[in-house]
Amino acid sequence: MQFFECVELVRRSASLLCLVAVALLAGCSRTPKPVYVASEATLKLPEKHQRQLQETLARYFGTPLNPRLRLPTGEPADDGVPKLVDVIEPDHLAHGAAVFNRRCAGCHGTTGDGMGEAAPYLFPKPRDYRPGTYKFTSTPYGAKPHRSDLIRVIRRGAKGTSMPAFPWLPDEDVQAVVDYVKVLSYRGELEADVARVAELDYDADQEIDSVEFIDSVTRIHDNWEQAAYQVVLPVTAQPKYTDETILAGRKAFLNKGCSKCHGKDGRGQTDWLSSEFIAAQEALPEDKREKLNYDAWGLVAPAADITSRMLHGGRRPIDVYRRIFTGINGTPMPAFEQALSQEPDTFWHLVHYVESIVEGRQVEGLDQVVADEPVTTVNQ
Ligand code: HEC
Ligand code: HEC
Repeated sequence: MQFFECVELVRRSASLLCLVAVALLAGCSRTPKPVYVASEATLKLPEKHQRQLQETLARYFGTPLNPRLRLPTGEPADDGVPKLVDVIEPDHLAHGAAVFNRRCAGCHGTTGDGMGEAAPYLFPKPRDYRPGTYKFTSTPYGAKPHRSDLIRVIRRGAKGTSMPAFPWLPDEDVQAVVDYVKVLSYRGELEADVARVAELDYDADQEIDSVEFIDSVTRIHDNWEQAAYQVVLPVTAQPKYTDETILAGRKAFLNKGCSKCHGKDGRGQTDWLSSEFIAAQEALPEDKREKLNYDAWGLVAPAADITSRMLHGGRRPIDVYRRIFTGINGTPMPAFEQALSQEPDTFWHLVHYVESIVEGRQVEGLDQVVADEPVTTVNQ
């Protein structure tokens, strides 16, 4: 990364964290030739399997300087090596990789493992793309993101985190970098899948069957393809945003279990972020650590402080609706799709309540709203 680009990134970023991160990015100096690194699971495998995995991943996905997205054609294999075909133009991916390695890898890591040079200093951590799990999606719980979700997070950033907004990045760069992020995700998921199978089903001197790769990559590809048709739309139209809907939302917040994690005051589990608190919890035997939840990336995952007024996944009503309706992938934030299916307007009431906090709107009588039954919360 050139020095003036770092300055530009800092200038355009509202986030102080980003400033810290960017200052720490050794990216401001020259970086050595990028290489993909093996996952921890791969490194535990016998050498023969490690080598086979690396070679096969390179056939499917190339290298950081010459990335590919190649999938099995289904045609009979020559000499036991299945035929692959490029499904994304290699030049386009090379462009995406160049954008990524220049602007994103300092946080997300060359391999997309979330372990860029700035990562140790950031919370929340930069996304590790390898499990293929994304938080801010318009698709159902557990589904892959829609392409537009990835574009949105790159354009707008994730407010309250170090993920910067890139509104000025040319469309061509955004499109290419999205495809490259996908490649890193495919690659990471395939590596994890095959490493798991190799560990369970193969002896150290046995060759891993190419079918293992084909089955896994086909499933991964299908999941990404399906996301295009899975966008969640609100069940009912949004009612007018009024004090009444906000009060109804406050009531639901107390009645439906939101306050169990977010606290009656919406401050969430912010105490979890103090190193003293985490150390004290981790010192306890595992069955005694009632309060500490972890996310899919193995990190402590406190419930969001809504009163911080910074919604990581966007603050449009539809963004908040989707966070509540489908939950947040990979985190303890559950989907309320089922729980509220008989009272669909409650989604919007909750959205309005959250919006009122974010906007700092004063609503008369809010303090008097009580739960139908007493609730225990994290920070009573
Ligand atoms: C200064 C560090 C930093 C830089 C630079 C950065 N990111 Fe991020 N990114 C983050 C963090 C932190 C998160 C996680 C936010 C969270 O978990 O709420 C994230 C999350 C993401 C996500 C996941 C969104 C989701 O729905 O889960 C994507 C995709 C992403 N970044 C893409 C990019 C791309 C592409 C670039 C470069 C153009 C980039 N990031 C540059 C820090 C960074
Ligand atoms: C089991 C605990 C739990 C419950 C119950 C819960 N949440 Fe959450 N919520 C979380 C966690 C954890 C996060 C942070 C996820 C992350 O890491 O990004 C979160 C995040 C959020 C966010 C922030 C989203 C963003 O874009 O940053 C909102 C808003 C939210 N929850 C609203 C609600 C509402 C409304 C309810 C009740 C209908 C609810 N939550 C119930 C744990 C919970």
